Amino acid sequence: MKLAVFNAKRYDRLYLGDLEDWHLTFIEAHLNEQSAPLAAGFDGVCCFVNDIVDEPVLQQLSELGVKLVAMRCAGYNNVDIAAAERLGVAVCRVPEYSPYAVAEHAVALVLDLNRHIRRAYARVREQDYSLDGLLGFDLHGKTVGVVGGGKIGQAFARIMRGFGCRTLVYDPAVSETMAALAEPVSLEQLWAHSDIVSLHCPLLEATRHLVNANALQQMQPGVMLINTSRGGLIDTRAVIEALKSGRIGYLGLDVYEEEAGLFFDDLSEGILQDDVFARLLTFPNVVITGHQAFFTREALAEIARVTQQNLQDFVAGDYSADTFVVAP
Ligand code: NAI
Repeated sequence: MKLAVFNAKRYDRLYLGDLEDWHLTFIEAHLNEQSAPLAAGFDGVCCFVNDIVDEPVLQQLSELGVKLVAMRCAGYNNVDIAAAERLGVAVCRVPEYSPYAVAEHAVALVLDLNRHIRRAYARVREQDYSLDGLLGFDLHGKTVGVVGGGKIGQAFARIMRGFGCRTLVYDPAVSETMAALAEPVSLEQLWAHSDIVSLHCPLLEATRHLVNANALQQMQPGVMLINTSRGGLIDTRAVIEALKSGRIGYLGLDVYEEEAGLFFDDLSEGILQDDVFARLLTFPNVVITGHQAFFTREALAEIARVTQQNLQDFVAGDYSADTFVVAP
């Protein structure tokens, strides 16, 4: 089977390059309408969160004879599932690679924001050992609201309980495991009682802009908001207003609504065109990382392992695994 790996970075070659028995071709371009013709002659394409796999792209892929879209990530909101079904293109993904990687990164954002690690680091390098502006708070005894109590939400709740935090969860389908780790509450209660809110639910129509002006109004003044899930969960403009008014005291993001044209590439030579993102960067109490929460050695190895299994299943015509979102 011949697979075109779009949007390929050095680390993709390193980990996916080991896949035995498959003819992989690594293509640096993102998959989109312009680059789709590069898939000519391949049986499948392998894509990531910021590739565009919408109807026009799927139409082109299908006409080129591509039968499989293998996502090397969990989310597939960038894939037009209805179009894939209609065209008979299989779609598979890696639903879970390391919930710990993402949960631990969320905690890293919490700790960095609270204890001003970036500012302290810069000061010490300048021989400035003053403490003004570095005041933090004890996590012990604080209330942490977890929105989405799945694999990552559970891993996050476990860590925060280790700090001595009280944990709340909002999840319309809260599991027993999560209910043992956090107190199930309504979304309104979670907003009202949390000192820290961390988002771990998927991006769906129902969750788009879950954090909007109305939700922010219900949160504790000075709340810490963490989003390592999907940018669209947050109405960024409303969040900027809440940062200006002080309603949000700390903001940690690993994802951004309009990240598609920004993250994963070195744009340091260019001029930032996104004024909303530029405004976010001006706040001293905001830390942003570029969708790196998943990025651990263990996660990349697991992505490669599951992708290999997906390819084997596809060739065998076995679409029974929950990694297949669309069976042809
Ligand atoms: P999961 O499927 O195990 O858990 C998601 C949970 O969200 C489920 O318990 C579900 O019932 C709940 N949920 C569904 N609708 C909800 C709603 N309206 N409000 C609250 N909860 C709701 O998923 P997992 O593995 O925990 O991943 C969570 C999210 O993390 C993914 O959807 C993905 O967007 C994001 N993610 C981010 C990564 C990164 O590198 N920044 C890497 C991997 C995932």
